[in-house]
Amino acid sequence: MQKTAVTAAAIAPALAERWSPRAFDATHTASQHELLSILEAGRWAPSANNMQPWRFSLATRGSELFDQIVGALTGFNQAWVPRASAVLVISIKNQRPDGEPYPIAMLDAGLTAQNMMIQTTELGLSAHPVAGMVHEDMRKVLDLADDLDPILLLAIGKVAPADTLEGPAYEREIQPRVRHELDDIVLHGKP
Ligand SMILES: Cc1cc2nc3c(=O)[nH]c(=O)nc-3n(C[C@H](O)[C@H](O)[C@H](O)COP(=O)(O)O)c2cc1C
Repeated sequence: MQKTAVTAAAIAPALAERWSPRAFDATHTASQHELLSILEAGRWAPSANNMQPWRFSLATRGSELFDQIVGALTGFNQAWVPRASAVLVISIKNQRPDGEPYPIAMLDAGLTAQNMMIQTTELGLSAHPVAGMVHEDMRKVLDLADDLDPILLLAIGKVAPADTLEGPAYEREIQPRVRHELDDIVLHGKP
C-alpha cells in the first residue's frame, strides 16, 4: 500500500512517501547494512549544542530482546509491532552534564527519529514511531542508567497487505492519511 502525501507544492520523495504502517511482513528480515544505515542517519541528526542526548537500543525479530521490548509496549501496540523486522528504542538523557533538567532532549529525540524514518523510507522499508509504552517496564528491559529515559520506539520493516491485520489496527491501516490544511496552521505569510 502507498499513502503518498498530497501537497500543494512538491516535497522530497522520501517525505511524501513516508507513512506509518502497522501491517508488516513477518517473514522479512532487515539486513545488517540496512540497520547500520538507519543508525547512522540517527547519529547524524542535529541537536542543540550538538549534545546528541540520544541512545539507541536495536533488536531484531526472533531475539529475546525484541520480545522483551514488545512486552513493554501498551496493549494496542503489542497487537501489531511483533511482525516488524526490527525495533529501535530511542532513549534520551534527562539532565545536562551539570545535573540541571534537559527538556530540549525531547526535541533532539524527534529529530533523530525523523532522520531514521526518512532513511528507512530511502531503503524501501517503513518505520512506525511508537510512544505507547510502559516506561518503567522499558527501562528495566533495557537496563537503562538513571540519567536515561526511554522515549520512542521505531518499528521497522517491510509493508504487508492491510488485511494481514485485524480489529482496530486494520481499521486504522485503511484510513487515508490526513493533515490540517496549510490555511489552518500557517498563522502568517502563507504564499
Ligand atoms: C511521537 C509519536 C508517537 C506515536 N505513538 C504511536 C503509538 O503508540 N502507536 C501507534 O500505533 N502509532 C503511533 N504513532 C503514529 C501516529 O499515529 C502517526 O504518525 C500519525 O497518525 C500520522 O500518520 P503517518 O505517520 O502515517 O503520516 C506515533 C507517532 C509519533 C510521532
